[in-house]
Amino acid sequence: MSRSSRLRSLATRLRLRRGSEPEGLSPWKDLQREFQLDAERYHRYAIPRGGNERFDSMSGMQLDAAATRLSHRLEKGFALPDTRRPFGVRAAPALTRAMANLDAGDALFATEAKEVLEALQRWNDHGVRDDRISPRGDALPGNPLDPETLATFLTSRHSVRDFDQRPVDRALLEEAVRLAAYAPSVCNRQGYRAYLFDDRADIARILSMHAGSRGFSARVPALFVVTFDIRAFENSLERNQGWIDGGLFSMMLLLSLHGLGLGAVPLNWSRRNGATARLRRVAALPDHDNVVMLIAAGHPAEGYRVARSTRRPLGQILRIGMPSD
Ligand SMILES: Cc1cc2nc3c(=O)[nH]c(=O)nc-3n(C[C@H](O)[C@H](O)[C@H](O)COP(=O)(O)O)c2cc1C
Repeated sequence: MSRSSRLRSLATRLRLRRGSEPEGLSPWKDLQREFQLDAERYHRYAIPRGGNERFDSMSGMQLDAAATRLSHRLEKGFALPDTRRPFGVRAAPALTRAMANLDAGDALFATEAKEVLEALQRWNDHGVRDDRISPRGDALPGNPLDPETLATFLTSRHSVRDFDQRPVDRALLEEAVRLAAYAPSVCNRQGYRAYLFDDRADIARILSMHAGSRGFSARVPALFVVTFDIRAFENSLERNQGWIDGGLFSMMLLLSLHGLGLGAVPLNWSRRNGATARLRRVAALPDHDNVVMLIAAGHPAEGYRVARSTRRPLGQILRIGMPSD
């Protein structure tokens, strides 16, 4: 290879690593290449196909997620209109096998799983339900919002891009994340993660890689990087699930921040793999995490303005029933 083509190839590699436009690649090849890199990463970390039979080859989050899925399958059985009896004939032995492989430190849900198995046995043997596993919905706190308050709450959230420079109380940000974790997730696996930065230098370093926050990035008091742990998901069927669960979590985080009196703006991380690799390094994110979005947060500045962001009329969003001919 000549010196000039070596230099050209080095420049291309650097550009790719930075996630910038890959010179010389057609849009189709570019897309194929990014999907290929996504697929390789997913394949490296996701729960292998046939997870329920392969607990021996799993550890950490993979095993935790696989056990949670089984445990939830049983829990869910108790919340159906007509709980079968007996049930869990396949899931219960699989969960028992999974638990045998869980290290105490691995298993967030090990205690819950044990309780579910005990409850299942009581149900299958004696027809007795365990209220801890499937509490009565009408005995839980109900929705305190009237329709008007709900509409006001939801329509009063706007993306805020002008922040007061006071630091934000960490306890408030932690509370927002705690509440956001009430987002639903597939089999309750909760693969989403939030990394919070409130050090100005860290935020500046991260946002220097982000074009969509130019104009206000220097005035962001707190920044979340929302990710999902690929190891919580299994085989090709779930290849998009982390994005969905991560998106739902992000929405809950935005609403929680709003409800707690803070302003926030979601920031896209629509980047190539090269740029995400750089973000992983700069923000010290684990290799098995994919980045869903960033969320900048803080107290809104006095006199701040928002973009009006008009919504489409309902007819463009909602179709009811089958289309008429
Ligand atoms: C995933 C996602 C990425 C976004 N990225 C950016 C961004 O990079 N910069 C920005 O200023 N706003 C960004 N936004 C905010 C949108 O512009 C905003 O949500 C939309 O216009 C609706 O306005 P509202 O949030 O005030 O209701 C993003 C929103 C979402 C959901």
